[in-house]
Amino acid sequence: MAFYDVIGKTYAQTRRSDSRIVEKLLEILASSQASTIADIGAGTGSYAVVLAEHGYHVLAIEPSATMRSQAMAHPAIEWIDGSAENLPLPNQAVDAAIIILAFHHFQNYQQALSEVHRIVGNGQIVLFTYDPAMISSFWLTKYFPSLIKDVESTFLPIPQLIEEIQTIVGNMVNTIPFLLPHDLSDSFAAVGWAQPELYLDSNIRNNISSFAKINADELSLGLSSLQEDLHRGVWDQKYGHLRQQKQYDVGYRFVHSPAK
Ligand SMILES: C[S@@+](CC[C@H](N)C(=O)[O-])C[C@H]1O[C@@H](n2cnc3c(N)ncnc32)[C@H](O)[C@@H]1O
Repeated sequence: MAFYDVIGKTYAQTRRSDSRIVEKLLEILASSQASTIADIGAGTGSYAVVLAEHGYHVLAIEPSATMRSQAMAHPAIEWIDGSAENLPLPNQAVDAAIIILAFHHFQNYQQALSEVHRIVGNGQIVLFTYDPAMISSFWLTKYFPSLIKDVESTFLPIPQLIEEIQTIVGNMVNTIPFLLPHDLSDSFAAVGWAQPELYLDSNIRNNISSFAKINADELSLGLSSLQEDLHRGVWDQKYGHLRQQKQYDVGYRFVHSPAK
């Protein structure tokens, strides 16, 4: 059973596309002409739908039936049951590919990159991912220390990711830092950087894969300690300045291989 068949049952409720991420994604995609886009690891299709609404034809590739079942139907989106390592599409089937917060879940990222390159040909590839070098400076790890090991062993360091793409695709690769807005509407792992109370909500935690991997003892200790620190004003003494910030670099990055 796919991991997201287990943890993704309510994904669409809290993981909605964020307009600022969409805006940046559309700006990057506009760097070359594309009409058909593969969304690999499309999840419940929150970003596929926005691309479809902007006139793109989207091939949404997703291995989890639980995730696909929550997708909103759109005439410009074709849903495909498949994995990045073995894409059920012919060579050069699409003009561009996007991989939004999914690359770190791929079992064999090199095979996946070869496959993406095969279906994209000379088209562009856009990843939205996380720089694991940033994780230890995120305050959340003070409450849930195993996040550091998990993130460092799950996400490829950005320089290595760039090198892998350059080797496989044979193209230059750009990294574009994405500062998280304070009111992010896609509730992924760093959603509460300025709103710590969000992590006390199990509906939000349930749709964040990093939380699913924290063991029960650490989770309950971390949650009660966060609750206590919020109650006593300790969190605000240490990190309260973040509540005043509109955006912050938690470590999210667009990684872009432009069209050749
Ligand atoms: C965090 S979700 C992101 C979903 C979507 N891109 C979004 O941003 O809402 C990661 C997705 O990657 C999918 N996934 C996991 N392994 C995969 C693989 N080998 N190939 C393609 N997708 C995969 C999961 O099933 C899940 O839907």
